[in-house]
Amino acid sequence: MNNVISTFNKSFTGTFQELIEYPTNGILNKVLLQDNNSQYNLFCLTAGTEIKEHTSTRNALITVMEGEGNLTLEGKDIALAPGVFVFMPANVPHAVQTKENLAFVLTLSQHFPAKKAISQKTIDIVKSTAPVLKKYGKQTTTRMYEIMFNKYPEVKAQFDMSAQANGSQPVKLANAVYSYASHIDDLEQLTSMVDKIAHRHVKTHVLPEQYPIVGECLLQAIQDVLGDAATEEVMTAWTEAYQALAEIFINRERQVYQTASEC
Ligand code: HEM
Repeated sequence: MNNVISTFNKSFTGTFQELIEYPTNGILNKVLLQDNNSQYNLFCLTAGTEIKEHTSTRNALITVMEGEGNLTLEGKDIALAPGVFVFMPANVPHAVQTKENLAFVLTLSQHFPAKKAISQKTIDIVKSTAPVLKKYGKQTTTRMYEIMFNKYPEVKAQFDMSAQANGSQPVKLANAVYSYASHIDDLEQLTSMVDKIAHRHVKTHVLPEQYPIVGECLLQAIQDVLGDAATEEVMTAWTEAYQALAEIFINRERQVYQTASEC
């Protein structure tokens, strides 16, 4: 069972007395807050619950609020009691057993490798193509889906083909590409858009290895629609820009997939 208390980066306050509640048996997991880099969850485990040994790809801090239990971390036993906190680096095996009802906050944080900054030249070129992408957006993305479904028909199954036929999906993609071109120098502005798309991608089982497919077809479509305006310089800039955008989605989707598997 999973409840989200706040999904946005807004201040809020509460008390653990109000938030802690135990299911009849097993685990209640409330997401207190999540953002692009971290997630704060309140776990309430009924007495006698066992979480078998597993690993997490994110760093984690357990802070015990109430109750008693045992954490096995890298084969060592750590007594869990109110006030105890334990830092668990990513990928370290751990397991939990509870003697009594136990509530703790789990803070997951992600350390992303330093991102290669998008070059200023690429930013300038991509921004300069925003007006033309706005004008020819739907034409470009309709072309991109046409290329993709011809060349990679296996991806068709993930798409709602009625949203292709009525043009709504090509319009959504065109708006996203235009927003990216307009805000490539201020990516914070795209956070909620990325979040919404990433959740849709996870629902439709989009995988990191599919990004080069969409990239290849989108770049081909840009070239087809822009014609002579798609100079080598423009295409090089869009190749770099697409890779940076793909990385943003892949990272966000990794978190969404992981959250879904932890709940
Ligand atoms: C940077 C690249 C990408 C962008 C900008 C993008 C953009 C979008 C947008 C705007 C939506 C609509 C979301 C909504 O309904 O709210 C969407 C949905 C979707 N995207 Fe992507 N996407 C990208 C990459 C991919 C990749 C690599 C795949 C894998 C094949 C993919 C597959 C899908 C699917 C299956 C949907 C749901 C469409 C439907 O319901 O028919 N996307 N994407």
